[in-house]
Amino acid sequence: MLTNSFIDRPRLLISAACLLLIQSLPVFAEDAGNLYNTAFDIGVGERYFERQCSRCHGFDATGNDETGAPDLTGRLSRASSNVGIYNILKQGIPGTAMLPVAADLPDSQVWQLVAFIDSLSTDPTNVNLTGTAEAGSGLFSGKGECDSCHMVSGRGGRLGPDLSRVGERRNPDELVSDIIDPHQDVAPRWWTIKVTGADGVAREGLRMNEDSFSLRIMDDDSNLWSYPKSQIESYERLQESTMPSYAQTLTDSEVDDLVAYLFSLRKEI
Ligand code: HEC
Ligand code: HEC
Repeated sequence: MLTNSFIDRPRLLISAACLLLIQSLPVFAEDAGNLYNTAFDIGVGERYFERQCSRCHGFDATGNDETGAPDLTGRLSRASSNVGIYNILKQGIPGTAMLPVAADLPDSQVWQLVAFIDSLSTDPTNVNLTGTAEAGSGLFSGKGECDSCHMVSGRGGRLGPDLSRVGERRNPDELVSDIIDPHQDVAPRWWTIKVTGADGVAREGLRMNEDSFSLRIMDDDSNLWSYPKSQIESYERLQESTMPSYAQTLTDSEVDDLVAYLFSLRKEI
């Protein structure tokens, strides 16, 4: 008897404290766990996603500029836990195209969808990398001259995407292919436009802005060129990346170091 009451009281206190935590800070309820997160559940969630969500978020869930549906494969901006994702799915995001899932969708299926979305991001603590970030950082601004095109934390060029948080959206395998095979899947934002104006000179550059009357491109030296549309002689879109492949110029271990560096670039928390 005596021992029992000794054990039970702290236990009661602990579970009361847990309840409070769960109620006030849903973020910590994550470990209460998604019961539907086996490989089977993730597969069911994926098929549901393809049917109901991919038209806005894309088949690979990396988002779509036209629908404004964000990339779901990295850190989410509106949820930092499984419970957070669950709440978004149940409630939608008011005032946006993101609607709640059907009210009669069984909870188990909502959690399967949560499990699928959760499976899309790589937990950095579970990743073993061969390279070292320090060496990669040196290569980035040294031998690789990556900073001539890419910005990290406000320093670098503008001829490629800002990489300050690239570790959140690209996993290590994708980073390797970004470096050695840049021409694969180039987003339209980074296509090159080749324009010949009234002066007959052909220039190539990234499309910066375009409206009904004019087009502006930025060439390799970051010079801006504006063309009134009425004076464009010819116009061509090149869907290749302006980023060179580093397959020949960097060794495997240098690529590994760069990957370790890039993967470490995320928002500080
Ligand atoms: C009609 C287009 C559309 C459909 C269909 C759609 N979404 Fe969305 N979703 C959006 C938009 C737009 C946002 C961004 C809203 C905002 O934050 O402004 C969004 C945001 C989200 C977010 C939050 C992302 C973040 O970074 O926090 C999640 C998670 C999400 N959607 C999951 C889903 C799932 C799962 C489905 C299928 C059940 C789905 N969406 C269907 C348009 C859509
Ligand atoms: C001449 C300019 C240029 C140089 C130099 C350059 N890049 Fe790029 N990089 C780009 C452009 C443009 C893109 C976007 C198009 C694409 O996907 O290839 C890109 C894309 C990337 C991406 C994918 C980013 C994302 O958000 O998907 C990574 C990672 C990357 N570069 C890393 C590097 C590294 C590491 C180096 C140096 C070894 C480097 N880049 C050198 C222009 C450059």
